[in-house]
Amino acid sequence: PTTAISGDLVGSIDQGTSSTRFMVFDTNGEMVTIAQREFEQIYPQAGWCEHDPEVIMETVHTCIAEACKNLEAMGRSIKDIKAIGITNQRETTVVWDKTTGKPLHHAIVWLDGRTNATVKQLVEKSETKTTTYLQEKCGLPFSTYFSGVKLRWLLDNVDAVKKAHDEGRLAFGTIDSWLIYNLTGGLDGGRHVSDVTNASRTMFMNIRTLKWDQEILDFFNVKAEILPEIVSSAEVYGNVTKGPLAGLPIAGCLGDQQAAVVGQRCFNPGEVKNTYGTGCFMLFNTGTKPVISTHGLLTTVGYKLGKDVEAVYALEGSVAIAGAGVKWLRDNLKIIKEASEVNELAANVEHTGGVYFVPAFSGLFAPHWRDDARGCIVGLTQYATREHIARATLEAVCFQSKEVLDAMNADAGTELALLKVDGGMTNSDMTMQIQADLLGISVERPAMRETTALGAALAAGLAVGVWKDLDNFKAGQKPDVFEPKIQAADRASRYAEWKKAVERSLNWV
Ligand code: G3P
Repeated sequence: PTTAISGDLVGSIDQGTSSTRFMVFDTNGEMVTIAQREFEQIYPQAGWCEHDPEVIMETVHTCIAEACKNLEAMGRSIKDIKAIGITNQRETTVVWDKTTGKPLHHAIVWLDGRTNATVKQLVEKSETKTTTYLQEKCGLPFSTYFSGVKLRWLLDNVDAVKKAHDEGRLAFGTIDSWLIYNLTGGLDGGRHVSDVTNASRTMFMNIRTLKWDQEILDFFNVKAEILPEIVSSAEVYGNVTKGPLAGLPIAGCLGDQQAAVVGQRCFNPGEVKNTYGTGCFMLFNTGTKPVISTHGLLTTVGYKLGKDVEAVYALEGSVAIAGAGVKWLRDNLKIIKEASEVNELAANVEHTGGVYFVPAFSGLFAPHWRDDARGCIVGLTQYATREHIARATLEAVCFQSKEVLDAMNADAGTELALLKVDGGMTNSDMTMQIQADLLGISVERPAMRETTALGAALAAGLAVGVWKDLDNFKAGQKPDVFEPKIQAADRASRYAEWKKAVERSLNWV
């Protein structure tokens, strides 16, 4: 470029389950540049999944360096970046030694199912002997999914972690804590914090007071001193200490699903978004009061955009396997070479030929919460081909989203008419049409689909004054809208068959 372009920019680290990305946005919320790195998924045993926290940090630094180079090549100055936000895979649990700054174990990933027996023990220990014993307090049922349960497993099974806990050297955190600690200096003054949205996924935080709950900590037998300080989603946590962004404030932090709520501008009670990533997560803004679900949904903090502003809550329906199912077709069944091929394959057939695929690899999350469910493919005939299985994999995500939406309608007592969507799978028009068909409502996809990273950038930009308030943040370009095209009777009969397939999955063990 011959002329330099200027204007404020905001950076965003999106540390997801399958890859790390760093993006830079301008004040219109348009993405200026992006760098991305996949990293290794470590599977030590069936149903287990780990990440190396140090590898995650390397990917963060690599992505930042690459995006900064891109910016300069575009004739823009890195100095235009005013702050960075962080958004992350939630629940994934990291433990490190405060005296060395080094991890004491690989991170246990959110969809790892090793804590099955830990969940049983916690249920057994509870007064009610139910998975919902702490739900009124923390918004969550006992499940392999949440960080507190993973930490209990580490304390019970890894001597180095237990010893560090007993000797007062242990630091616990989710990925946001690990990133902020390291980016702000690690052993050399790094801050040990976690934003309220991430903290609301541990089981340790009281969903009303937004503080660690001593009674819950006693129940889990965990010392409070190992926990990060809970902070809001938009404030300056500290400055980056090295690399091309050294000196920049880290000023926004949200779990990735909550960041998408912000990026999708679901700021009013009743607005809902569904993000199709490794898993699929639907969040319903319930306003400034937490609502405890009676239909299998989680209560979670949606966002708290500033130290002194009220938190906004959400009901969440979490589906563990979405893009991960497509990856399984690629890496395990090897019926596609690239994840995107699933769409071409599925488009070769008009329907699944009666095949239903319930990808319950880590049990079934919302609204079932059954760790013992297992995956199944039913309805196979000699007619079935890989095309039908590919299509059934995409349909499975849409059917599970329907189960979650039904639960939301039941909790809300009203029928939602519009679903805002984002995430990798929404790039497929066919999948979004299937989604609208199976839900029977409009599905709206934004033109700028990196809403997760945008949400964290928005939080950071608000904290440092790049945007003055939420109204200052303009609506993006016109979205695409998918309207249902199938008959209600067709929808109902396919959903009834899906439910039969789910019964098989639930009753397998
Ligand atoms: O709760 C897990 C979730 O945060 C993971 O998100 O985008 O990696 O599927 P994603």
